[in-house]
Amino acid sequence: MPTIAGRLSGFTESVIREMTRIANTHDAVNLAQGFPDWDPPTALVEAARRAIDEGHHQYAVTWGSPRFREALAEKAGRFMNREIDPETQIVVTCGSTEAMMTAMMTAVNPGDRVIVFSPFYENYGADTILTGARPIYVPLRPPDFRFDPDELKRAFETGAKALVLCNPANPTGKVFSPDELSRIADLAQRFDAFVITDEVYEHIVYPPHQHTYMASLPGMFERTLSCSSLSKTYAITGWRLGYVIADGPVIEGAKKVHDFLTVGAAAPLQEAAVTALRFPDGYYADLAARYTELRDRFLGHLDRAGLTYTTPQGAYYVLVDITDFGATDDVAFCRWLAEEIGVAAVPGSSFFSEPVRHLIRFHFAKREATLDAAGERLMRLREQG
Ligand SMILES: Cc1ncc(COP(=O)(O)O)c(C=O)c1O
Repeated sequence: MPTIAGRLSGFTESVIREMTRIANTHDAVNLAQGFPDWDPPTALVEAARRAIDEGHHQYAVTWGSPRFREALAEKAGRFMNREIDPETQIVVTCGSTEAMMTAMMTAVNPGDRVIVFSPFYENYGADTILTGARPIYVPLRPPDFRFDPDELKRAFETGAKALVLCNPANPTGKVFSPDELSRIADLAQRFDAFVITDEVYEHIVYPPHQHTYMASLPGMFERTLSCSSLSKTYAITGWRLGYVIADGPVIEGAKKVHDFLTVGAAAPLQEAAVTALRFPDGYYADLAARYTELRDRFLGHLDRAGLTYTTPQGAYYVLVDITDFGATDDVAFCRWLAEEIGVAAVPGSSFFSEPVRHLIRFHFAKREATLDAAGERLMRLREQG
C-alpha cells in the first residue's frame, strides 16, 4: 500500500474539536470552540436570501466579486486610514484560514524560516509545515504575554523571511501596543522580512486598548500581508469569507496561489456581504460594547469561582491558570472539567511550543444565559481548589 505524505506526520488532530466532542457527549457547556451562538444581523441574512434569488450561482471573479472588493476597499481603507485599490491590492479568500495559507505560500519558500509568537493559533504551525517552511517560536511569556525584544531580534537574525502576527491575539487576548508593533516593524524592515497578520478580531477590542493595523505603520504596507475575515465581525463563521490586503506585486502572487487553492469564495455570499461591509461605524462600536459586556460578565463568573486569569484586551478568549488545583496535565484537567464540572475548555498546551501545562482557554462569545450556566457550574470548582 502506498503511504500518505510525510509532511502530515507533524499534524495531530485538533484538540479543540476533540474537546467539542467530549462536551457533546457529556452535555457540557462548550466554551472550547470559538464561535458566537447568536445569529448574524438580520439585514445580512436578508441580503443572502436576495443574493440567491438574484442568481449569483456561478464562479465570481477568482480574486473576489468586484462589488465585494469595492465595499471592502472602502471599509478596510477607512479603518486602516489609507486608500486601498480594490483591483490590485485585495484577494478575497475562503476565510482568514485560506488567507493565511495563501499569504504564507505567497511570501515564503520551502526551507525559509518563519517567526511565530508562542502561544499561537494552531493553524500557523500547519501553515508553515504545508509551505515547507520552518517555524521559529518566540515566546510571549505569561501572565502578561510580552515578548523579549532581544529574543525577537535573534529570531530575525536567523534570516527569517516572515513573521506571523495575530493581533488581537488568540489565545492570549493580547492587543499589541503601538510600541510593540513599532519594534516588530523596525526589525522587519532592518532584516527585510514580510509580516503576515491575522486580524480577525480587529473589531473586538476592550477599552482602553485600541487596534493598530501593522500595515498602517510607516514603511509597512509594502511588506505586510494583512489577513482578516468577516467571520467574527459579523457572526458569519460558516460563510467562509476572508481576504488578504497587500501591495500590488504581493497581491499579484497571492491571486495565483488563491486561484489554484480554491478558485474563489462563495459568489452569492460575497454579494450579500456587501451589505455588512457598508454598515456604519456605529455597528463596530456596538459590537465592541457587546463583547465588553460579555467579557466582564464571564470574568465575574471566574472571580466568583476563585479562578486566576489574564484579563483579555481583545478577541474573546481568556487563559485561566490551573496551578491552584495542583494540576500538572492541562489535557487531563480539561477532560475532567468537561466530564465532571460540565464546562469544556481547551488545554493551553495546544497553543504553546514550550512545555506550558498550567493554562486552559475559555471563550466567551456566548449569550448571557450560556455564560451564566457555565458560571454556575464553575462555582463547583471552589470545593476543589
Ligand atoms: C486567530 C484566528 N484566525 C483565524 C480564525 C479562523 O477564521 P476564518 O473563519 O476567517 O477562517 C480563527 C477562528 O477561531 C482565529 O481564532
